[in-house]
Amino acid sequence: MDEHNMEVIVCPDAARAVTLVAALLETRLRTQPALVLGLATGRTMERVYVELVASGVSFGDVTTFNLDEYIGLRANHPNSYRRYMEDHLFSRVDIDPANTHVPAGDAVDLAAAAADYERRITLAGGIDMQLLGIGEAGHIGFNEPLSSLASRTRDKCLTPTTRKQNAAMFGGDPMSVPSRALTMGVGTILEARELILLATGEAKASIVARAIEGPISSMVSASALQLHANCKVIVDEAAGSELGGREYYDFVFANEPAWSAYRDFG
Ligand code: GLP
Repeated sequence: MDEHNMEVIVCPDAARAVTLVAALLETRLRTQPALVLGLATGRTMERVYVELVASGVSFGDVTTFNLDEYIGLRANHPNSYRRYMEDHLFSRVDIDPANTHVPAGDAVDLAAAAADYERRITLAGGIDMQLLGIGEAGHIGFNEPLSSLASRTRDKCLTPTTRKQNAAMFGGDPMSVPSRALTMGVGTILEARELILLATGEAKASIVARAIEGPISSMVSASALQLHANCKVIVDEAAGSELGGREYYDFVFANEPAWSAYRDFG
């Protein structure tokens, strides 16, 4: 594990990619119980939370900050990300609810809610480890194309691609997906001390390759991860299938001593 690079690990299947991410998180939580953990939502992450809960690791001293929240949904709406987190993680571990943070997408004053979110992250001492998924539009959080690479938490208009991608959770109709979200900015995300991006499935293959190996561009906000000094990208064969540097990534994973405990996943 190199603290000055991006590292790409291609796992044979989605199950092993999920287990590797869960294992990295569990190890980190055991060695640093007061971790400030950045969390992500989406279908890919559901299985990570299942494994994390099953590991029995304590969240008693953990503080969490989620990446984003839909605007206009009540916190207890079945599709809100607050509700997702309650269902998949918070209600299943010993975390203090006061230490869980999700952007207030139901706030009347969204700019104030955004500034308050940034302030809370700073007060917590910054995010130690941030979990990330990737959208088919290349977003991290809800940083849609043209998000400034210096952006902070703010409200953002969602792309048709994203609304289509998330429509299944809203009865299949993209128009039922809220059109805006309150999201950490790319700049906010880049300040986390460590980043872990997880992507699985063929639908992510093209955007993963563009983000990791393409030029850094605000059109693909995930490409900003190339600017981070400690970023792990964990994918399955399907999501990694368009990566050009595959041979080298596999060689690094097989040879870096720090990965020795995790080789079974590669
Ligand atoms: C939503 C979230 C993103 C997440 C993405 C991935 O759009 N806002 O933070 O990365 O979902 O979704 P999935 O895992 O369902 O593909």
